[in-house]
Amino acid sequence: MKIPALDLKKQIAPIRQEIDAAIKEVIDNTSFILGQAAARFEQHAAEYSKAKYAIGVSNGTDAIALSLLALGIKSGDGVICPSFTYYATAGAVASIGAYPVFADIDGDTYNISIASVEKVLAKNNKFKIKAIIPVHLYGQCADMDGVLKLSRKHKIKVIEDTAQAFGAEYKGKKAGTLGDCGAVSFYPGKNLGAFGDAGLILTNNQGLAERLKILRNQGNKDKYHHLVLGRNNRIDTIQAAVLDVKLKYLDEWNRKRQEVARYYNKNLAGLGIKAPFVPGCTTHIYHQYVLRAPGSNKRFVDYLQAKGVDSRVFYPVPLHLQKCFKYLGYKAGDFPEAEKAAKQVFTLPIYPELTQEEKDYIVAQVETVSSLSAKQFRS
Ligand SMILES: Cc1ncc(COP(=O)(O)O)c(C=O)c1O
Repeated sequence: MKIPALDLKKQIAPIRQEIDAAIKEVIDNTSFILGQAAARFEQHAAEYSKAKYAIGVSNGTDAIALSLLALGIKSGDGVICPSFTYYATAGAVASIGAYPVFADIDGDTYNISIASVEKVLAKNNKFKIKAIIPVHLYGQCADMDGVLKLSRKHKIKVIEDTAQAFGAEYKGKKAGTLGDCGAVSFYPGKNLGAFGDAGLILTNNQGLAERLKILRNQGNKDKYHHLVLGRNNRIDTIQAAVLDVKLKYLDEWNRKRQEVARYYNKNLAGLGIKAPFVPGCTTHIYHQYVLRAPGSNKRFVDYLQAKGVDSRVFYPVPLHLQKCFKYLGYKAGDFPEAEKAAKQVFTLPIYPELTQEEKDYIVAQVETVSSLSAKQFRS
C-alpha cells in the first residue's frame, strides 16, 4: 500500500465546484490585486481568529519579515527564535538584516524552552535583543504565558510564528493573537493551504495593522505616495478566494486530524515510541503527527518508506547547525534538545481523509519496525 504524507486531491475533490466558482468570480471581476475577494478573506480570517485585524500577505516568510519591520526591528538587532523550526523563521529575521539569536526547545513539546530563552536574555549578547519569535511547531502552541512574561520583563516584541498552527488555541485564544502579532502561512501543505503561496498577519493593534498594510503594498497609503520603504508582499487575490472557501472547512478538517492522532496514540501505545505530548494549555491541530524513536529516527523512516508509508523528518538539522547560519558562530552541543530531536523525530501521514484501512496499515508497519531489534533490522 502507498500512503502519501498528505493527499490534497482528496481534500479538494468534494469542494471543487465551490472553489472553481470563487476563482471564476475573481476572473469575471478582473479585480486581480487585493480587491473584494482579498478583503472578504481578511475579514473572515479575522472573525475566525477573533483578531481585530488580519492582513493578507504573499507568504508566511514575508508575514514574519513584515511583522519585524512594522514593529521597528532594524538591521543589527537580535531576534530570539528556536533552533528547531523550519528555516523561514530565522531566514525572515536575517532577510531584514537582523540577527537570529537561537534558543533550545523543550524536549516534550518541541517548542521553545522558556528556561533557554531566559539564559539567552541573561547573557551579554552581541546584538541588542528586540523581539522573540515563538513557533507553534507541528500545530500546538508554545508556552505563551512564559514568552509574554519574559517579553514584558525585557520589553521585547512578540511575533508568533503561526505557520503550522492556524486554528489551534492557547487557553481559549487563537494562535497568533496572543503576542504583538501572529504570522500565518498558507503554503499548500498547511492545514489551511492555498493553491500556491499565501500568508496572513493577525494583530489586535490598530497602528501595527495600518503599518503592515502600507508595508505590504509598496509603502503606499494613497497610490503613488510612498510613505515608507515598502515591499510588494500583497496576498494574491485568487489565493484569497480559494482560502475563503477552504476556511469554512478548517475546523472540521482539524477535528478529523485530531481523531487520527487519537487513533495513533491509542494503537501505538506501549511500543516504546514517544507519542506527541500536548500540555493542557493548548490544543493541537496536528499539522504534523510526530513520534520520537527511542534511538535514531532513520531506522523508522527507512522502514516505513520501504513499506510505502511516507514518513518524514521535520527537521533533520537544527538551525544553529545550518551552513547558512555559520556566520552566527554556533557549534554542535549548543542546543542539546534541538539536536536530539532532530535525530529522533519522525512523522506519520496525517490528513482528514485517511481511511481506516490506511490507518491500520500504518499502525501495523510501526508495530513491526518497533519490534525488530536494531540487529535484526541490519541483517
Ligand atoms: C514554522 C514555519 N515558519 C515559517 C514558514 C514559512 O511559510 P511560507 O512557506 O508560507 O513562506 C513555514 C512554512 O513553510 C513554517 O513551517
